[in-house]
Amino acid sequence: GKVRAPTHIISTISDDRGEEPCYAGVPMSSIVEQGFGVGDVISLLWFKRSLPRYCTKFIEICIMLCADHGPCVSGAHNTIVTARAGKDLVSSLVSGLLTIGPRFGGAIDDAARYFKDAYDRGLTPYEFVEDMKKKGIRVPGIGHRIKRGDNRDKRVELLQLFARTNFPSVKYMEYAVQVETYTLSKANNLVLNVDGAIGSLFLDLLAGSGMFTKQEIDEIVEIGYLNGLFVLARSIGLIGHTFDQKRLKQPLYRHPWEDVLYTK
Ligand code: ACO
Ligand code: LMR
Repeated sequence: GKVRAPTHIISTISDDRGEEPCYAGVPMSSIVEQGFGVGDVISLLWFKRSLPRYCTKFIEICIMLCADHGPCVSGAHNTIVTARAGKDLVSSLVSGLLTIGPRFGGAIDDAARYFKDAYDRGLTPYEFVEDMKKKGIRVPGIGHRIKRGDNRDKRVELLQLFARTNFPSVKYMEYAVQVETYTLSKANNLVLNVDGAIGSLFLDLLAGSGMFTKQEIDEIVEIGYLNGLFVLARSIGLIGHTFDQKRLKQPLYRHPWEDVLYTK
């Protein structure tokens, strides 16, 4: 019989051995011929399946909406400072990416985890938020430095509009909105932010598309795929900021003394 040589790596998402590379079994020519977009490529390489058009369109909207948010946010600031220190594209990019985490852009997975758990356990928004407060955990997906109840995040509204029009169900997102209604009654900056909107809506996408088993959804949420959307999206902006600083021939950045409180 055949003797299989032991391998050191197992890989299941792509194959470059044939005439053309395949993503989850789909050859590159078919990806191009069928007019697939980046949402389809993400579906194949991250979720190992072709998703319906409204899902891939939603993924693409997330990528477009999160591509940049100006020069003042943590990621862009780091990238700008690094580019101005004369570093190369990759160094400038990763220095910005390294700021993505629980406070900035990387709260999508935790938002999905906590909203899913609270909704599935039937907690009221009041019980959920107060329970989190008792545990001393800020609700992921809630709160923003500049957005307010009377100055909502347009990105959140656009995502909600798309999902309400195209998704079969938006139950997790509606739950997140109820949580927001409660948190806004406590403080005006505790809006549903873009991480919370994507986290809750991705739960609706996973559950409503009929393309994933319950076990697969649990695995996606547990592993934490969804921050990848922000990382991928924001890379577009961070690369842009790097080029911008180089184009402008900006000198080494030094923070002004006046803006530092020197104290003992
Ligand atoms: N849940 C509950 N209470 C909150 C939350 C929250 N998510 N955010 C703020 N508060 C309350 C707390 O009482 C906080 O006081 P504390 O420091 O004792 O916890 C008080 O509001 C004031 O908080 P600030 O630190 O002044 O708020 P700030 O404007 O600095 O925080 C931030 C903004 C970091 C986004 C915060 O709201 C937060 O941690 N949210 C959860 C993480 C999150 O969703 N991040 C993604 C933001 S969107 C993006 O980055 C693309
Ligand atoms: C972003 O997308 O970078 C923002 O939501 C963060 C911010 O503080 O504006």
